[in-house]
Amino acid sequence: MTVSAPCKPTFRFRCIGCGSVVDSAAEDFRCSVCGNLLEITDSSWNSQNPVALKSLWRERRTLNEALDLSGVWRFRELLPTPAAEHIVTLREGNTPLYELPRCSRSTGVSQLFAKHQGMNPTGSFKDAGMTVAATFAHQCGYRWVACASTGNTSASMAAYAARGGMRSLVLVPDGKISWSKLSQALDYGALTCQLRTDFDGCLRLLQELVKRAPVYQLNSINPFRLEGQKTLAIELMEQLDWQPPDHIIVPGGNLGNSSAIGKALIEMHTLGLIPRLPKLSIIQAEGANALVRTLREAGGKRLIPVQAETRATAIRIGNPASWEKAVKVLEATGGACEQVSELEIALAKAEIGAEGIGCEPASAVTLAGLRKLLQQNFVKPDESVVLVLTGNLLKDPDYTMDFHRGELSVGGVNEKENAALDAYRHPPVVLDATLDAVIQALDCAEKSAPAQSHA
Ligand code: F0G
Repeated sequence: MTVSAPCKPTFRFRCIGCGSVVDSAAEDFRCSVCGNLLEITDSSWNSQNPVALKSLWRERRTLNEALDLSGVWRFRELLPTPAAEHIVTLREGNTPLYELPRCSRSTGVSQLFAKHQGMNPTGSFKDAGMTVAATFAHQCGYRWVACASTGNTSASMAAYAARGGMRSLVLVPDGKISWSKLSQALDYGALTCQLRTDFDGCLRLLQELVKRAPVYQLNSINPFRLEGQKTLAIELMEQLDWQPPDHIIVPGGNLGNSSAIGKALIEMHTLGLIPRLPKLSIIQAEGANALVRTLREAGGKRLIPVQAETRATAIRIGNPASWEKAVKVLEATGGACEQVSELEIALAKAEIGAEGIGCEPASAVTLAGLRKLLQQNFVKPDESVVLVLTGNLLKDPDYTMDFHRGELSVGGVNEKENAALDAYRHPPVVLDATLDAVIQALDCAEKSAPAQSHA
């Protein structure tokens, strides 16, 4: 490549392995002493007045400046500080916290909420991190940004690169990501390479590439991404009037998001913004359960990679980069790590859809995981629980269509499980275009599932 190397401002990082604090360039993601991942640290975060911060952040919700309209930059006192002219924002964050009345009834958890990160500009939680990482890429003068992705990171990165006037390079596993996510990267102008490998293969290749070409890596090992994703937790606490729930449950793939939420919780607790730490639990698909196995079979001491396979393609990851950060977060908050089957994911996704909000399959592992944690008595019905829904329903329409048409393979199912699936299936009906045919379909639907009275 003939692109000239950009300038190199330095930032303060702490190594999550040996704890050493170093001032380093924005692209140094690993500690030069022990090789572990770095995270951003800033001593000024601890010296702020929590009461003043809460009222400042609330007041900004009434203002119309671009930075205040962003649900990420609104919390900028707990983020690294960029030069204002470099900020790349799409008004990310500001995502709703929904009650889940049906799921509450079916699980017995009366205080059950969903923080829906799928309501971000490109439809996933990635936007909260991408605004920060794209901003620093811009400030450091990069012309190219790049990521390996199961789809959402690439969609988000491509959008923010386009907004910031940068080029983007996307590496995705051929045939293993949803068309909907791929189409976003194309529309936002990314150079999109479908590689004949899996996500882990794409990430390995990208890590070689960044040593050879002046492209800035925007995967979640990029510590600036995690800083932005912290704001999910800050905004959530604000929505709960700074009374933390007992549990937060999040899907686990490459394990950046759980690490970011954990970092935010610990920082908020240290600063006195929240009186106690919620337990942060991580749920994986059975077919992509590297963290579950790492904890069960190696006591969290060494990673046990797996050959990942799941229809929840967003978390089809076998070699999660941020596993050590995630282990630390589980230890610090006392959270659990569980796995759920393809059947459990499909049922949970349908149940969330029936609430009228919907999500993509990877997000639904949270509800399926909650059921397991209730069975194990790790979560008690009288405790408050927030599920983090990471992606929008429209991110993976093929999965939803296959489910409703009865064409989704969820492994061998018995009669009872099949009946449970059937109860949620609503396949489209093809009819002659006559009034009689539609009235008959209406009668038939009313008999099989009477509409609830709203009186
Ligand atoms: N949910 C969704 C919808 C995702 O897209 C991802 C990850 C996760 C959960 C897991 O989050 O990796 O931080 O543990 N998607 C990445 C991507 C890997 O490339 O879009 P994580």
